[in-house]
Amino acid sequence: MKSVSIKDIFKNKILINSIVKVQGWIKNKRNSKSNLLFIDVYDGSCVNTLQIIVNKNLLVNKNHEIIKSTPGCSVYVEGRLVSSLNTKQKFEIHMYKINVIGWVKKPDLYPMSSKRHSMEHLRNFAHLRPRTNIIGCISRIRSSVFYSIHDFFHKNNYHWVASPIITSLNTEGAGDMFSVKYSKKKENKKLTYKNFFGKEVFLTVSGQLSIEAYACALSKVYTFGPIFRAENSNTTRHLSEFWMLEVELAFSNLNNIIEVIQKMLKYIINFILQNNKNDLRFFEKTFHDNIINKLKNFLETNIKRINYKDAIKILKENKIIEKDSIYLDIELNLDHEKFLVDKYFKQPIIIQNYPKSFKPFYMRINSDKKTVAAFDILFPKIGEIIGGSQREERILYLDKRIQELKLNINDYTWYRELRFYGTVPHSGFGLGLERLIMYITGIKNIKDVIPFPRTPKNANF
Ligand code: 4AD
Ligand code: MG
Repeated sequence: MKSVSIKDIFKNKILINSIVKVQGWIKNKRNSKSNLLFIDVYDGSCVNTLQIIVNKNLLVNKNHEIIKSTPGCSVYVEGRLVSSLNTKQKFEIHMYKINVIGWVKKPDLYPMSSKRHSMEHLRNFAHLRPRTNIIGCISRIRSSVFYSIHDFFHKNNYHWVASPIITSLNTEGAGDMFSVKYSKKKENKKLTYKNFFGKEVFLTVSGQLSIEAYACALSKVYTFGPIFRAENSNTTRHLSEFWMLEVELAFSNLNNIIEVIQKMLKYIINFILQNNKNDLRFFEKTFHDNIINKLKNFLETNIKRINYKDAIKILKENKIIEKDSIYLDIELNLDHEKFLVDKYFKQPIIIQNYPKSFKPFYMRINSDKKTVAAFDILFPKIGEIIGGSQREERILYLDKRIQELKLNINDYTWYRELRFYGTVPHSGFGLGLERLIMYITGIKNIKDVIPFPRTPKNANF
């Protein structure tokens, strides 16, 4: 007999009246006066549950195990698929055979009972929370976002490149890193974490420098992996371990890479609208938020671009910062960004051409010699989702920046060689995957869009 997924049933892929096998978990169970038992089963393939109708008169044994089953039990069901007369659901299964595979041992203590739980409560049960509708929806969208990104770049002739997780370089130059130590099994071994690799190494904060090497040969590349940052910031938008997409495009400038981003974001969002509509509807119902319209509107417009200098001007005009301050001396903080995105523009924006002093060594100096060809993309209620720049491809300028920032030039020998041998103008960006998922789903805390969040003082599960 065919084992089917609930998603396929709701996509009309299974013939009505066929006998099917469904495997999943009980979400709800209700008795009716007419000796019927209604069991809602989910299998994670979609947000819908499938109603199983058990006619108790047909059970050979009146103490059949299904009578004692509770939400959370895993079940195996065989039955006939029928169109439901009930307006709430399109399909149901008239049961022939049903078995409990795994029991919920102490049902009163089951933390994922069918009542609604707060996101904070669910965080204490990161191993069980995927059983809830909300985390199920987030997980399916997360998976689709990953898929659509690979799909977009594959279709546009980019190559996926693996950048190393263990590295000795702090690409961004700012912020603390997690060091990688060699843990000795036996005493007396002379290895220490410093001499295992011959130098001190860390978990990577960015794969950018590595993929620049590949962009200077394969032209269009990206890397996509976990990133580690030891920022001691316990906010709703920071994780110590998060996922970043990084893209690098040879023979390109700032405008070219921003164009790639606009196309990519639209591709991802359109993909989610096409493939995860029911998950999005669930968020709309839960948060009373018009998420689908927000995403559709996103497809209609290009993200607004402004220069850093003009962003500062707006802040001055609105008395958020002092009138006579010089724009090169003011670093945008979170409050400034919030004002610009949430209050002033009320839509995603790209801020470009930042003063060089606020940005890392690798960004290309503009002809004014004061700003760099860099940009941040800010989204309402979240802030920065993407950061990128044109890279400094001219060795003299690059060396000057390395000196200005007092970095050790010997650490960058291989990176500088990319500028010695066949250098090329190139640009790239990094996208914080979890922050993009926050935008798509409307989820307010980044800890809820990654399965097992790592944050200061929290590496449980
Ligand atoms: O702006 P960032 O630091 O850029 C880079 O690392 C560049 N090397 C990227 C590149 O050009 N290849 O980080 C990029 C994005 C941010 O815009 C943000 O969305 C996300 O990564 N991000 C974080 N997300 C969650 N938790 C954190 N602690 C994050 N730090 C950055
Ligand atoms: Mg940034």
